[in-house]
Amino acid sequence: LMIHKCLFPVAGYGTRFLPATKSSPKEMLPVVNKPLIEYAVQEAVDAGLTRIGFVTGRGKRAIEDHFDKNYELEDQIRGTGKEDLIQPTRDLIDACEFSYTRQKEMKGLGHAILTGETLIGDEPFAVVLADDLCIADGDGVLMQMVKLFRQFRCSIVAVEEVPDDHIHQYGVVAGEPLKDGVYRITDMIEKPSKDEAPSNLGIIGRYILTPDIFDQLRETPPGKNGELQITDALKKQAQEGCVLAYRFKGRRFDCGSIDGFVDATNHCYDKFYKNGF
Ligand code: UTP
Repeated sequence: LMIHKCLFPVAGYGTRFLPATKSSPKEMLPVVNKPLIEYAVQEAVDAGLTRIGFVTGRGKRAIEDHFDKNYELEDQIRGTGKEDLIQPTRDLIDACEFSYTRQKEMKGLGHAILTGETLIGDEPFAVVLADDLCIADGDGVLMQMVKLFRQFRCSIVAVEEVPDDHIHQYGVVAGEPLKDGVYRITDMIEKPSKDEAPSNLGIIGRYILTPDIFDQLRETPPGKNGELQITDALKKQAQEGCVLAYRFKGRRFDCGSIDGFVDATNHCYDKFYKNGF
C-alpha cells in the first residue's frame, strides 16, 4: 500500500483574486518568484509522489506549459546564470509524470476529485489544494501524512486550529484523540456557523484518500452551496470505517485570500530569498 499519485484540483475560478485571475490561473500566482503550483508539486515530490494528476478547466493551460520545456527560452538563457533560476523547475519536470483531465462544470471540490478518478484508478492517493501553501521545517506536510498513512492505512485530512470568526469557511471535524496530533474523526460539517462547529479544527488543503472515496462521492448528494462536498463523502467513510484528522507540523498560508497571500509572500521572502536571490 504505497502512495505514488497526487491529484491537484485546479479548476476553480479564483474569484477572490480578480482581476488577476480573469485570464490566468490562481495557481500560477507567484509567491516571490515561484508559482503556487510549483511549491505544491515540489511538496508532493518531496513526499515521494511523482505521478502528478491535474483536474483542470478552461483557462488553465499555463499550468501545463509550466510543467513542460520551453525550448526558445532555454536556448536564450543557456550558459548564463539565469539557468540556475529554472533548474529546480527542470528537476521537477524530469522527476514527474504529468497527466491532465478537465472538469467540465465547477460543481465543487468533491466533484473535482471524482473527475480525477480516471487519473487515479484503484489506489490510495494524495490531494493538494495549491492555494494552501504549507511551509514546514523538516518533513513537508504531505511527507508527514504519508508516514501516518503507512501506519494507519486509512484516509487522512490535515487540520489546524481556526479562530471562531473564520470557522464558517472550513470543513470542521470532531474527533477522539488517538495520539499526539492525531484524531479519529467522529463527525464533520462543511462550513458550519460558529454555533454548529463541533470543534475549532478546520480542514486545510491536504488529504490522503483511499480509493473507496470515489464510490462514496458517487453516492453523495450535493451539499452546502449545491456543490458536491468532499467533507460529506469523508463523513460517510469515517462512519463506516476510519478517517483521521492530523494536526500537521508547519505553517499554512491561505493564498486564496489576499491577506494569506501577502503573509506568505513576506514569509517566503524572509525564509528563502532575502539572503541569496
Ligand atoms: P475554492 O473554494 O478556493 O474556490 O476551491 P476557487 O474557485 O478556487 O476560489 P474563489 O473562492 O472563487 O476565490 C478550493 C480548491 O478546489 C478547487 C479549486 O481550484 C481550489 O484549488 N476546485 C473547486 C475545483 O477544482 N473544482 C471545483 O468545482 C471547485
